[in-house]
Amino acid sequence: MALCKRRGFIYPASEIYGGINGFWDYGPLGTQLKRNLREAWWQDVVMNPCGGRPGPHGERVRIVPLDTCIIQHPRVWEASGHVAGFSDPMQTCRACKKLFRADHVAEMLEESEWGKAVLEMTRTAAAPAERFAYAREPLAKWARTKGRQLAPGLAIVLETPKVAAAIESRIEASGAGEFAPLELLSLLATANAGGALATPCPNCGGDLTEPRQFNLMFETHTGAVRDDASKTYLRPETAQGIFINFRNVCDTTRVRLPFGIAQTGKAFRNEVTPRNFTFRSREFEQMEIEFFCHAGEARDWYRFFCDWRLAWWQSIGLGGANLRLRAHEKDELAHYARDGAGTSDIEYRFPFTAPGFGELEGVAHRADFDLREHQRIAGAKLEYFDSERGELGPNGQPKGERYLPHVIEPSAGLDRGVLAALCEAYSRDESRPSPEIMRFHARLAPIKAAVFPLVNKEGMPEVAERLYLELCSRFGRLGFIETDAKQSIGKRYARMDEAGCPYCFTIDGQTLADQTVTVRDRDTGAQERIAIARAADYLGAKLDA
Ligand code: GAP
Repeated sequence: MALCKRRGFIYPASEIYGGINGFWDYGPLGTQLKRNLREAWWQDVVMNPCGGRPGPHGERVRIVPLDTCIIQHPRVWEASGHVAGFSDPMQTCRACKKLFRADHVAEMLEESEWGKAVLEMTRTAAAPAERFAYAREPLAKWARTKGRQLAPGLAIVLETPKVAAAIESRIEASGAGEFAPLELLSLLATANAGGALATPCPNCGGDLTEPRQFNLMFETHTGAVRDDASKTYLRPETAQGIFINFRNVCDTTRVRLPFGIAQTGKAFRNEVTPRNFTFRSREFEQMEIEFFCHAGEARDWYRFFCDWRLAWWQSIGLGGANLRLRAHEKDELAHYARDGAGTSDIEYRFPFTAPGFGELEGVAHRADFDLREHQRIAGAKLEYFDSERGELGPNGQPKGERYLPHVIEPSAGLDRGVLAALCEAYSRDESRPSPEIMRFHARLAPIKAAVFPLVNKEGMPEVAERLYLELCSRFGRLGFIETDAKQSIGKRYARMDEAGCPYCFTIDGQTLADQTVTVRDRDTGAQERIAIARAADYLGAKLDA
């Protein structure tokens, strides 16, 4: 995160006002990195579907693009199930008024400042069975001192003797002196010795309300009057814009089933606990494909997209043990996926999830759920007439079949993809003067090359400028080409390593004599000398461009 800020990849949104939780702005390098990832997806999904890979029956895969509105008719979100069911269980602290996702509280407690302090105290016990006995005195002292600052709402801080007595009588009743971390934190919040364990607030230790369902859609109003009739929502996913235009695309293009519709764009979710940098944000970008096919072929397409999407993330550098495909357990499946071929997530091992994984993209068989619901609620006919199916007529030709297509949905998060690319690229080489290196895949690297005059005199800047302009005109559409004459060459290389620039061309004294330049490879730090006339072709071959 520090490197992201320092090098201009990602900044907290509204930073000069103290920031706004769950929102992030992309700096110059981050904007280009994100654009390169979106562009790689667009190329391999829309311009050359599935990178030219044939479909499961050997067919050419067809996918067309779409760009739909962030605000749609509010009934879209009734049909999709978001108005009724897109919610998280939420708890509020009665003392500090902070909100928490009920299913995140346990994890947040163990990570909280006061939780960590308490757990650390109990870890010093000599033997596990004595843990609480050993910690009793230090805990009471902590409650009177540090606890007042860190957890002013915690029961043991407010009523130290009463809570300590309650804990002791529980120990006597159960004979246990050792507690699981969460149990211990809960005991400190529970004054009633015989009652259920309370779950304290991760922020101040105060009392949490019962979980309540909280809808994650951002609401707004369209038009001048702000009443229920003018209420609209910022889309929580780009997918629905595709479903509601299915008929339009069929009627206005020559696509035939099976085919996909792809869209990238912003989505908004009022997440209760945004966290882990950009991983869970309130405003983020999705890259979604809705692939429409006959129900009988859905399983084949589902498997096809699971395999291809995994291979795609690998192709842009997220290889190895940090990436995996995981099929959902039955109880994880969304309502629309229960009777289908299933749902799988492509997951990345982020540093903050390790040793676990976090979702990067979901591939779901949504069956005909969305089209059916939009057909029902909007009263529009969304069935597809497939002239190549159905019984054979007297002329030996199929009579055709009318049906609601099934949908396979590979839905990826662009910001999560950028975050995974940043995490994967980040590496250290302590042998270098400036050890942080961003080893981006060449396709994603925001800066494609840099051109440096070794010194800012003796005709070197002029030669550097000519090469810089040549590289800009050939590769500028792919990312930045940099040039810089200030500071030592070592510092300039280090800055490019941190920005993830794969190749640096340096003009030195020898260039003026024999028309050669050095090329430095970011990953190895090795340099080779090539003819300056070959520099652009050299870079083209390395970038595969
Ligand atoms: N149309 C299906 C859909 O939206 P999802 O699993 O809720 O499915 C798809 O979202 C992808 O969007 C996720 O795999 C994730 O990469 C990204 N995503 C979802 N919520 C996000 C959030 N709060 N912040 C950043 N990315 C998010």
